[in-house]
Amino acid sequence: MAEKTSRIPGFYKRPMEERLKLVAEWAELSEDEVNILRNLGGLDPQIADAMIENVVGGMTLPFAVATNFRINGKDYLIPMVIEESSVVAAASNAAKMLREGGGITAKAGHQLMISQVHLVKVDAPQYKAFKILEHKEELLDHANQQDPVLIKLGGGARDLEVRVVNTRRGPAIIVHLIVDVLDAMGANAVNTMAEAIAPVLEKITGGEARLRIISNNAVYRIVRAWTRTPPEAVGGRDVAEKIADASALAEADPYRAVTHNKGIMNGIIAVALATAQDHRAIEAGAHAYAARSGTYKPLAVWDVDKEGYLVGALEMPLQVGIIGGAVKVHPTARIALKILGVKKARELMEIMAAVGLAQNLAAIRALVTEGIQKGHMKLHAKNLAIMAGATGELIDKVAEEMVKEGRVRFDRAKELVEKLGGKTGRSG
Ligand code: MEV
Repeated sequence: MAEKTSRIPGFYKRPMEERLKLVAEWAELSEDEVNILRNLGGLDPQIADAMIENVVGGMTLPFAVATNFRINGKDYLIPMVIEESSVVAAASNAAKMLREGGGITAKAGHQLMISQVHLVKVDAPQYKAFKILEHKEELLDHANQQDPVLIKLGGGARDLEVRVVNTRRGPAIIVHLIVDVLDAMGANAVNTMAEAIAPVLEKITGGEARLRIISNNAVYRIVRAWTRTPPEAVGGRDVAEKIADASALAEADPYRAVTHNKGIMNGIIAVALATAQDHRAIEAGAHAYAARSGTYKPLAVWDVDKEGYLVGALEMPLQVGIIGGAVKVHPTARIALKILGVKKARELMEIMAAVGLAQNLAAIRALVTEGIQKGHMKLHAKNLAIMAGATGELIDKVAEEMVKEGRVRFDRAKELVEKLGGKTGRSG
């Protein structure tokens, strides 16, 4: 048999069905497996095919809503898409605790994104940096000519920053264009502007432009969320103090801070996925922000105030948009935004920050009380029961039995499905 080759000229030009057929042959996929791939989860095939290249199918994840959220005095149902069990339940649970204190307050700042132009081969770079600043108004005007719609809506390039950076390959001038992107994530707008001003910068400096791209270190697109809740809401003063202990550890130890922030991102990325955001940008920006002091720090901290109330505060950049990109074309993302009822990117930032804060509370509260595994195991047991063939009521029966026994394993799930399913006549 001839060796398989991944060199398939014109693969991208073939119709989706043909590509799928090729992959099915490559991997000897069964008809059932092909049908699973074919399921686009409500996405129009033409849209899917235009969204990325070489599409052969779709992959769906559960879309859930977290309940109990009260943010800035308003109630929200929070759409979340995630593969990890417990996250939605934990967020809902923490939101319920925080409701007792009136919910979460959140405030987004400016919608400013940074676009970088990288110039090399510049003689007298420090002097040329000032020459660039001398031309600031002209450069901003030129950038703004690229996006009349953004300007009409009140956004646009606002400022310019110039630095000389000493790289391994010599000095480089880095120009930052600071752009108010309003309700867009902004990458397209700022990249276009960077590319447009690069030749002008080359002329001013006599250098050569290299990179012309957004910086995902979105330090001018910050959101803050804070909350205060009575200790009884989290299980008493003792639990509140232990939550503050957990926060103190994250503040002092980067190894813990990373996991602490991972818990925050569980909530934020689940909302990002539901609303079709660029979650890689959000992650990159969040972790850079956490490390901005030179030491990796938690994005949210918790303490107990002198009245004994638990207080929490989160600060981070969130580069999100509600217009353009996948948000515009993905029908499920539109539905998610409709469920949220958001009309502005800043509101989405505030909601996501609030979810991150609640998610963080849920995680560290579980960690300082019963531990994380109990809740996880309950849901994991259900997944195993389903995989072992349980349906209907049998799922809960098998899961409960495994948790009770402390044997949450696939082999045990199979045994129980046979045993208990036999009894009820339902083995899936
Ligand atoms: C698991 O997905 C997230 C946690 O590890 C977060 C944390 O430790 O704070 C539970």
